[in-house]
Amino acid sequence: MELASAHLHKGQVPWGGLLLTASLLASWSPPTTAEVTTEAVPPQVAEDNNVLLLVHNLPLALGAFAWYKGNPVSTNAEIVQFVTGTNKTTTGPAHSGRETVYSNGSLLIQRVTVKDTGVYTIEMTDENFRRTEATVQFHVHPLLLKPNITSNNSNPVEGDDSVSLTCESYTDPDNITYLWSRNGESLSEGDRLKLSEGNRTLTLLNVTRNDTGPYVCETRNPVSVNRSDPFSLNIIYGPDTPIISPSDIYLHPGSNLNLSCHAASNPPAQYFWLINEKPHASSQELFIPNITTNNSGTYTCFVNNSVTGLSRTTVKNITVLEPVTQPSLQVTNTTVKELDSVTLTCLSNDIGANIQWLFNSQSLQLTERMTLSQNNSILRIDPIKREDAGEYQCEISNPVSVKRSNSIKLDIIWEVTSEISQSTNPQPPTTIWLLLTTLLTRWMTSHTLS
Ligand SMILES: *[C@@H]1O[C@H](CO)[C@@H](O)[C@H](O)[C@H]1NC(C)=O
Ligand SMILES: *[C@@H]1O[C@H](CO)[C@@H](O)[C@H](O)[C@H]1NC(C)=O
Ligand SMILES: *[C@@H]1O[C@H](CO)[C@@H](O)[C@H](O)[C@H]1NC(C)=O
Ligand SMILES: *[C@@H]1O[C@H](CO)[C@@H](O)[C@H](O)[C@H]1NC(C)=O
Ligand SMILES: *[C@@H]1O[C@H](CO)[C@@H](O)[C@H](O)[C@H]1NC(C)=O
Ligand SMILES: *[C@@H]1O[C@H](CO)[C@@H](O)[C@H](O)[C@H]1NC(C)=O
Ligand SMILES: *[C@@H]1O[C@H](CO)[C@@H](O)[C@H](O)[C@H]1NC(C)=O
Ligand SMILES: *[C@@H]1O[C@H](CO)[C@@H](O)[C@H](O)[C@H]1NC(C)=O
Ligand SMILES: *[C@@H]1O[C@H](CO)[C@@H](O)[C@H](O)[C@H]1NC(C)=O
Ligand SMILES: *[C@@H]1O[C@H](CO)[C@@H](O)[C@H](O)[C@H]1NC(C)=O
Ligand SMILES: *[C@@H]1O[C@H](CO)[C@@H](O)[C@H](O)[C@H]1NC(C)=O
Ligand SMILES: *[C@@H]1O[C@H](CO)[C@@H](O)[C@H](O)[C@H]1NC(C)=O
Repeated sequence: MELASAHLHKGQVPWGGLLLTASLLASWSPPTTAEVTTEAVPPQVAEDNNVLLLVHNLPLALGAFAWYKGNPVSTNAEIVQFVTGTNKTTTGPAHSGRETVYSNGSLLIQRVTVKDTGVYTIEMTDENFRRTEATVQFHVHPLLLKPNITSNNSNPVEGDDSVSLTCESYTDPDNITYLWSRNGESLSEGDRLKLSEGNRTLTLLNVTRNDTGPYVCETRNPVSVNRSDPFSLNIIYGPDTPIISPSDIYLHPGSNLNLSCHAASNPPAQYFWLINEKPHASSQELFIPNITTNNSGTYTCFVNNSVTGLSRTTVKNITVLEPVTQPSLQVTNTTVKELDSVTLTCLSNDIGANIQWLFNSQSLQLTERMTLSQNNSILRIDPIKREDAGEYQCEISNPVSVKRSNSIKLDIIWEVTSEISQSTNPQPPTTIWLLLTTLLTRWMTSHTLS
């Protein structure tokens, strides 16, 4: 097929080519220029700013052009008309005084308002009064004012109430997106957290004290961002079980009893102290100086939340104890023969106090040769061995004090010759038996001691 790909040379116009040329001439078109395009700069305009409606590739052979608000065009929506030959500008009924037209076709609109949002049409008329048009649009957005958070419940109760927080933006809600944050962390939907109305409303289901906040909502539109002031919920809760401090329950006479009670609660709890179940004080702290054993008893902290109407108590038993007196350690004879027995007696005035035994200042490791009796006050070692030689002490304690006795040094004596004579005088079966027993005892002793 020659025609489809033919490059037409001047003067060699085939019949199909003639038809094409005729139709091009019928619909007016500038001979060489590209298509007219338009552009709004910027397309999203902040209220009170300027927008420039640019026309690219405006035809050169133009008689006049006119700008209109809207499309299709109507006479009363004409903004301005421009006659190219004379550079004459004529304002139309839709001219607001803020529009300026340029000979290159562009239209500048200053200090735009939200009402300026929309489509604009440029109508171009050629020298033969043929018209073509092009449109352009832009959107004017208000600058967002500081939004406000409102709550539908100013004093929600923990575990009972649900709360809706709404971000009031005071500006046209179109084109606004909402972002919520709590303690600076952005929030998204969760088990107890729902977003609705395009994220304008945040609902907290079954609030806890941890939902207190502060909350901030941020509004955004294509031209601005604004942020609310922080908003905190006054969540009513508690009281929790009170905690009494310090935790000591034993004191000695002459010291001061100084107790403090604390229970998490909103509003803060009211505090009361009861001693042996009788009301004593309505305060958070309890102070009794120079106590005696008569101050032993049950101390109760009672807390109450006047709004929830709930109350809780914690009881502490305080015992005032005299410190123990120094015990004294006695033994019948500090020099003992090996394999004899010895009895050490710890004498104390403090009946029922705890008694510990010390050997060479360390806690005594009991072996099977040692027995304790009379609430640990008597230590009997039977038979005694040479490794039991050393310093003995007893120690008496109660929860408020510890006292050590005098120390007693036990000397163990044994006869060096007897062992040697036994081993140098062979009587086979007995000797072996004795030797085995000695070795076994030594082995056992060393293992118990280590
Ligand atoms: C038209 O003229 C205005 C004013 O001089 C200028 O700002 C704009 O860029 C021009 N438009 C084009 C498409 O060149
Ligand atoms: C129209 O304005 C253009 C640019 O300002 C200028 O070059 C031209 O001479 C003016 N034409 C008339 C008729 O004033
Ligand atoms: C937020 O809005 C307030 C008026 O409500 C305004 O004064 C402030 O400048 C705005 N902030 C921003 C970042 O736009
Ligand atoms: C925002 O809310 C607070 C109370 O929630 C109110 O006092 C204040 O007037 C509100 N601000 C505006 C601009 O309405
Ligand atoms: C609300 O939460 C509390 C614990 O915070 C729970 O005991 C209670 O059952 C919850 N109520 C509902 C309706 O989910
Ligand atoms: C607040 O809104 C939540 C969620 O819509 C609702 O469950 C609750 O009953 C409302 N509280 C009040 C006091 O209206
Ligand atoms: C702004 O909102 C209007 C109406 O809701 C919508 O038609 C338009 O597309 C939105 N524009 C932007 C930039 O979101
Ligand atoms: C609402 O917020 C979530 C994030 O928390 C976001 O994914 C979603 O697109 C937002 N919806 C609207 C309508 O802005
Ligand atoms: C609040 O948060 C703390 C720490 O994350 C947590 O131990 C406590 O259980 C929470 N309280 C409630 C009522 O959810
Ligand atoms: C404490 O009480 C005792 C008697 O109970 C008394 O002898 C002593 O003086 C008191 N000490 C002080 C500092 O009040
Ligand atoms: C405190 O003392 C009371 C009465 O003496 C007794 O019934 C209770 O069990 C004691 N509580 C504790 C924790 O020791
Ligand atoms: C203690 O025992 C040793 C050895 O059995 C003995 O020699 C000494 O006389 C005794 N001393 C007293 C005071 O009984």
